[in-house]
Order: sequence, then structure tokens, then C-alpha cells
Amino acid sequence: MIMGDCATLEQAFSHYVPALAGSLISTTLIAVCLFAYDWRMALAAVWVLPIAFTITFFSARIQEYFNRKSVAANVALESGVQECIESLQDLKTNNAEESYLKGLGKKIDDVEKRHIITELGTALFVVSSTLILKFGIATVALVGSALLIRGEIDIPLFFMFLLVASRLYAPLEGALQNLAAVISTKTNINRMNEILDQPIQTGTDRVTNKGYDIVFDHVGFAYNTGETVLKDVSFTAKQGEVTALVGPSGGGKTTVSRLAARFWDISRGKITVGGMDISKIEPETLLSLYSIVFQDVTLFNNTIMENIRIGRKDATDEEVIAAARLANCEEFAAKLPDGYHSMIGENGCELSGGERQRISIARAFLKNSPIILLDEATASLDVENETLIQAALSRLIKDKTVLVIAHRMRTVSGADKVVVLSDGSVAEQGTPEELMNTGRFYPHMVKLQIISRDWGI
Ligand SMILES: Nc1ncnc2c1ncn2[C@@H]1O[C@H](COP(=O)(O)OP(=O)(O)OP(=O)(O)O)[C@@H](O)[C@H]1O
Ligand SMILES: [Mg+2]
Repeated sequence: MIMGDCATLEQAFSHYVPALAGSLISTTLIAVCLFAYDWRMALAAVWVLPIAFTITFFSARIQEYFNRKSVAANVALESGVQECIESLQDLKTNNAEESYLKGLGKKIDDVEKRHIITELGTALFVVSSTLILKFGIATVALVGSALLIRGEIDIPLFFMFLLVASRLYAPLEGALQNLAAVISTKTNINRMNEILDQPIQTGTDRVTNKGYDIVFDHVGFAYNTGETVLKDVSFTAKQGEVTALVGPSGGGKTTVSRLAARFWDISRGKITVGGMDISKIEPETLLSLYSIVFQDVTLFNNTIMENIRIGRKDATDEEVIAAARLANCEEFAAKLPDGYHSMIGENGCELSGGERQRISIARAFLKNSPIILLDEATASLDVENETLIQAALSRLIKDKTVLVIAHRMRTVSGADKVVVLSDGSVAEQGTPEELMNTGRFYPHMVKLQIISRDWGI
């Protein structure tokens, strides 16, 4: 939308609108001069103008309808092509390539059909308006001949009117086409407004927190889809402690960690950091307090060095390398031809899942913020790497507020507090030992993982 619609609007407003305005002004001036010479001949020349413009204006609604459909077909095709390229690997492994491409073929046909209909619609109205304009020359000839026979005008004036009438309509024909294009930008403008109308999170730049305890107080939340994801979540993640969020997949762990950093605003309850309501703090200011390692790592098509430096823009090369060492990036960076200066491809596609995750952890080490959110931060690592990084993490998290999400109970067992999230609510919380003795869900999860160790394929 941003790229396509902007280009369409730029074309319309910097090329069509000035041309339209220019031809309207020149036509008005010529028409005034014609009236000054002879009002009857002038009337014979310009009576077609209001009719031609009225046709174009009345056709606007129909053109807009066609254009909306055509833009929708374009969007469906563009999304389809992008999805196809991104998921080619999965399409191939599931033998779904052929049927997907068939669907894409249908979308291409649909775009073609929609474009033809839209162009035909526009052409029909523009052609009928320009045809009407041509009538102007005929009426000038007819009225002129009649006035000439009656001796009310002379031959030079008659020829002058004929010449001017034939020239008068040329810029207008272009203007009518431009008018149609300007009218059809309404669809693009509406789509751009959809983006601009999105609510923007605002807040103060002044942080007033005392310490970094994170408190969830009866928090309720639903994504845009409307379905309630968190019903009533209350817990405290204390500074200097590791709080682990565990629970079944889809239970809302990632959602809780993202809400803690105000990625979305909650619908009920309150989240505070050191007593400060985070919904009143400007998101960028708030995020300076957080180091986050996401479940799905995002990397940039740049060098390892620059990908880590995203954590703190003004970090020196030495600081970046120190963070990289802590996250055990040295091991794979050394094997690459340019070491830390090697390019890693779009979203780090030239690296393995574990290597990508280590870069993301190095970023968090570099940022070194007082609050750390780790969402399955070590899930893609082998046991040796995980142990090394856990040791580095435990040095990093001293005196900090740490919220860890993990499925492996081994990762969680060292936490100071465990919060079990199930079905959008806190099912139970306490120290791992307390929960092992008195809990219902936690001992069950630990037991299942112990059993699963003996599984084989
Ligand atoms: N961006 C989103 N828009 C709409 N619904 C979402 C979005 N992200 C997650 N959900 C829904 O919210 C629920 C909780 O998701 P969440 O990612 O928090 O679970 P989770 O506990 O982290 O699961 P997992 O252990 O699999 O990572 C799920 O039912 C999911 O479908
Ligand atoms: Mg998750």
C-alpha cells in the first residue's frame, strides 16, 4: 500500500492535477476571448464543455467502484506472490506447489480481467466525453455558416472561430483523461487513510519508576481479532529474580511478555514497572528499559557485527565482539570468510536457527537493559551451547528483572518463581519447589518431560 499507492498519488498530484488545472485555465481564457468577439459563435463552441465534464463527473462513482475491485485484485495477487516466494520450501515439502500455483494463476487472471473492465469503463466515459467535444466544431461550422449567409459575421472571423474551436478541445481531451485518473485516486487515498487512522501509542518521556519490579494487576487482553487471549492475569516479576512463565502452547506466554513491554495496550487491569503505569509512557522511552530476545528472531541483511550493534547503536566494535563472545557467536563467526564482517543474507537466511538465536542473545547482552524478556531464547540451541549461554545469562541478569519463557523444564528449574499460564489465566504460581509440592499443573509438566526423555522414534 505504501509503495504502490504513494506512486499512484504522486503521479496524479504532480502530473495530472497541474495539467488539468493548466488546460482548464487556458480553456477559460480562450472562451472569454471568444465571447468578446462574438457571443453566438462562442456559445456554439463552448456549449459542449459542461456536458463533457458532467459525463466525466457522473461516471466517477462507477469508475471508483471498478477501481476499488481492481485494486483489491492487485493486493490479493501481490500478497499471493510474496507468500509463494516466502513459503516455497513448505509448499514443495507438502507437494502443494502445483495447487498453490494454480490458485496464483487464477489471481493473475482475475487481475487481468479487472484491469480490462476498469480500463474499458474509463475509456467508455472518456471517449463519450471527447466525442461530445467534437460536436463543438460541428456547431461552430453550422452556426458560423448561418451567420455568414445572413451577413452578420465576415469570413476571417468565421475561419478564426473554426481554427480556435479545433484547437480548443485538444488540451481538454487530455484533461478529461486526467480527470478520470484523479477521480480514481480516491480508492488509493482511502487505503492510505486506513493506515493514518490507526491509533498511535503515546505517553510521557519522563520515567518515574522506583526499581524495576513488573506487576500485572488483573490484566485482560484481546488482539484485534477480538478473541480474549488473557482473561485475568496477576503476578509480580521482582527485580533481582528470574520469573519463569510456563504453560501449554497458546496459553498466552508470549502475549504476556509483549504486553510487559507495551507492544499492545491492554483492555483491562494495569501493568506497572517500578510502580509506573506503562500505558502512560512513550513506547520508545519505555523500551529503552528492556532487552528482549524474541521467540522468532528477526535479522537484517547485513554483517553479524551490525546485526548485533542494533542492540546499542553507539557500541564500539570491541563491545560488540565482547557481547558476541558471551553469546557464543565466536564459534560460527570464526568459520565465516569475513568473520564478524560476513553478510548473513535476508533475515539471516545463511545461518542456522541456533546461530540466529545466538545473535539475538548477543544483542540483548549488548543492550544490557534493567529488564530482560527471554521468549524461548535458547530453544534452538544444543545442550552444550545452551549451558554456556545460560552461564553467561546468569551473569547478565544479576540485579535485573528477568522474565523467561521456556518449554524445557531444565531451563525453568533454576528460576526464583514460576507462573503457570493456562487458557489466559494464571493457573498457579510460586517457587519451583513450592509448586512441585503443592501445585497441580507444574508437577504434571515436569513429570511428562521426564517420561518423554525415554521416548524413541
Ligand atoms: N498477533 C496475534 N493476533 C491474533 N491472535 C494472536 C496473535 N498472537 C497470538 N495470538 C493468539 O493468542 C493466543 C496466545 O498466543 P501466545 O503466542 O501468547 O501463546 P504462547 O503461550 O506463547 O504459545 P507458545 O508456547 O506456542 O509460544 C493464541 O491462541 C494465539 O492464537
Ligand atoms: Mg510463545
